[in-house]
Amino acid sequence: MWGGRFASGPDAIMEEINASIGFDKRLYKQDIAGSIAHATMLETVGILTRDDRDAIVAGLETVRGEIDKGTFTFSRALEDIHMNVESRLRELIGEPAGRLHTARSRNDQVATDFRLYVRDCIDMLVAQIATLQGVLVDKAEAEADTVMPGFTHLQSAQPVTFGHHMLAYVEMLERDRGRMLDARRRLNESPLGAAALAGTSFPIDRAMTAETLGFDRPMANSLDAVSDRDFILETLAAASICAMHLSRLSEELVVWSSAQFNFVRLSDKFSTGSSIMPQKRNPDAAELIRAKVARIYGAFSSLLMVMKGLPLAYSKDMQEDKEVAFDALDNFSLSLAAMTGMMDDLTVNRDRMAAAAGAGFSTATDLADWLVRAANVPFRDAHHITGRAVAAAEARGCGLEGLTIEDFKAIDERITSQVFKVLGVDNSVKSRTSFGGTAPANVREQARLWRERLTA
Ligand code: ARG
Repeated sequence: MWGGRFASGPDAIMEEINASIGFDKRLYKQDIAGSIAHATMLETVGILTRDDRDAIVAGLETVRGEIDKGTFTFSRALEDIHMNVESRLRELIGEPAGRLHTARSRNDQVATDFRLYVRDCIDMLVAQIATLQGVLVDKAEAEADTVMPGFTHLQSAQPVTFGHHMLAYVEMLERDRGRMLDARRRLNESPLGAAALAGTSFPIDRAMTAETLGFDRPMANSLDAVSDRDFILETLAAASICAMHLSRLSEELVVWSSAQFNFVRLSDKFSTGSSIMPQKRNPDAAELIRAKVARIYGAFSSLLMVMKGLPLAYSKDMQEDKEVAFDALDNFSLSLAAMTGMMDDLTVNRDRMAAAAGAGFSTATDLADWLVRAANVPFRDAHHITGRAVAAAEARGCGLEGLTIEDFKAIDERITSQVFKVLGVDNSVKSRTSFGGTAPANVREQARLWRERLTA
């Protein structure tokens, strides 16, 4: 492509380090769509004849068909997807192929292709996140009354409902979806026509190609258009945060599915066995989601480091943006799919969770609140009195509800037998009706609102 200036071809090692075709071939659809838009615009403004434009478009469609079918031969010597496509176009249609690259450079071409590709990824990921939210809303509705221990510091804190726990993730995922859509909004401007870095002297119509390719507008600065990769960084940042959420849920699944917790059972479809220990049901998918997050963070920080020292405009360093991003987005999508399948198939051990919910004096706060409400005790004093009741129960080896009314009276005479009503876990969660609280009625209402939102 630049033979005019060179006496010899590249060294084999030069070819190896320089080539990106091994990974950027997956941009072929975007590359061809960009070229068709560009050629059509060139004809509209009078730079290409209609015949040349038609030949180019037909040729590009043939190339696309060949790549679709797997009959296309990629050449590493041709470096990347852009040159592979153009070179095949020349074989197919001859001279007009050489006119396609007028008023364009690979610099704006690759930026355009990659934006289009990431935009498609975002659309798919946003839909996947919504699907996972739908599954969690179903679980929340089915388990609105299921009481489980709520933890802080992984110590029994207060009983909550499993449905409430599921809806916590639905909220997180909604912010994740919002971050993805924000990234899409800023990404959706067209670099095409920025050419190498300075724009072009040809009378091109950048608004036309932008519109054809579904961009909101052309990017306003040609240097910016070819030199920034913040759109992929932003997408990877949003993916990193969402993957962190998936990882926390994975960690909970690993803990909950252990024999010691036994809160949930993963289906056979989402468990693995052991080659030596016949009893095992391992939560491998959850563990792998937890681990794959590392790749996503890795891609994000890798690209930040690639970019941070680059003077404007394009440097070849930027070719290193794709491999890590493809890998991260592939694995993020796979993680979302695996989490969706796992959660959809999950069985909840309601009895086991309810029993565990009462352990660890989890209704102690209910007792303190009762003292405030029924006996007008200041909360700080109520906290102290309750602490003594917990110590008494602990000494006796029972729960708070195992103390007798005499035991309670000995601690504080204002306590009446009415107190036993608030010591059960069901009553505890039912009472948490403040906005955003864990009460089953709240969970049902929130699940209903989410279903409306997700189907809107
Ligand atoms: N394969 C290159 C990349 O991915 C395309 C752009 C090449 N531009 C250049 N000036 N060498 O970044």
